[in-house]
Amino acid sequence: MISHISLKAAAKVNLYLEITGNRPDGYHDLVMVLQSIDLCDRVDIRKTIRKIGTDKIQVTCTNPEVPCDRTNLAYKAAALMQSAYPEIGGLEIAIDKQIPMGAGLAGGSANAAAVLVGIDRLWELGLTQSQLCDFAAQLGSDIPFCVTGGTALATGRGEILSPLPDLTDLVLVICKPRQIAIATAWAYQTFRSQNLLATSKVKEQNLSSQMVTAIASGGESAPNKIGRLLYNDLERVVLPEYPAIADLKNKLLDQECLGAMMSGSGSTVFAIAADLDRAHQIAEAVKTDALDVWVTKSLSSSIFEA
Ligand code: C5P
Repeated sequence: MISHISLKAAAKVNLYLEITGNRPDGYHDLVMVLQSIDLCDRVDIRKTIRKIGTDKIQVTCTNPEVPCDRTNLAYKAAALMQSAYPEIGGLEIAIDKQIPMGAGLAGGSANAAAVLVGIDRLWELGLTQSQLCDFAAQLGSDIPFCVTGGTALATGRGEILSPLPDLTDLVLVICKPRQIAIATAWAYQTFRSQNLLATSKVKEQNLSSQMVTAIASGGESAPNKIGRLLYNDLERVVLPEYPAIADLKNKLLDQECLGAMMSGSGSTVFAIAADLDRAHQIAEAVKTDALDVWVTKSLSSSIFEA
């Protein structure tokens, strides 16, 4: 049995996010198209026989702003697995953080997914992807996607997944305002309190099925079609509250890109570019001291050996 595993855990963007209902549990029914991107944290998981204080889980992170206590999703993932499988002993989790926090890129969720997959491999539990996704759904709505990755349609709270054909070589420019981190709960609660569902215009347009068709049809024109169909209901609450994010989106749209949209609850805004050269030009044109910018590509999976 191995005692250590190093995994890469990929961020995601929402190519599409439509809120379709208020759920009695406080959550929202969603239709989303999720895409893994090549912006990854590295998660090292090590079995330990040494007792770590009174605790059997120790999390460390290269980013000092990330809390490493029981509130960390990677910690929660390890604790969940320990309670389900008593044979799992102590473990040390070291996170090398590249994915920004409060960004709408599912960085914390990606770390939790890597811990679930890593524990399954380290303790040779033999879990199926569907069993891993069941654990993931107990931890957060987008963690099942972070286990499976690639391109997927997500419904329910976001945990019901249908794989879509891989979008290979989709080129993206990812822009995260350094000073703005947004709490997902705030964005959804504001959407509900402003009753924005009542004035939603996308349902009649059947935009989500147009997006799925664009992805399924594939071919060279797919990025163009996808760029035109990008949609995110949470922009309706986040952009008025954070004009800097609205300005960033407009700046990206002024470039020669195929489309631009906020990811998840923000604050990241991404643009789709026709090719890598164009993406680098866009990145150069929008970059400022207040922004972190990456040029990246779509991935067909989310967790892989580092
Ligand atoms: O599931 P997760 O813990 O990642 O969700 C974070 C917050 O986002 C929830 O507390 C909830 O306020 C909001 N949310 C929602 N509807 C969803 C997913 C998330 O309202 N489908």
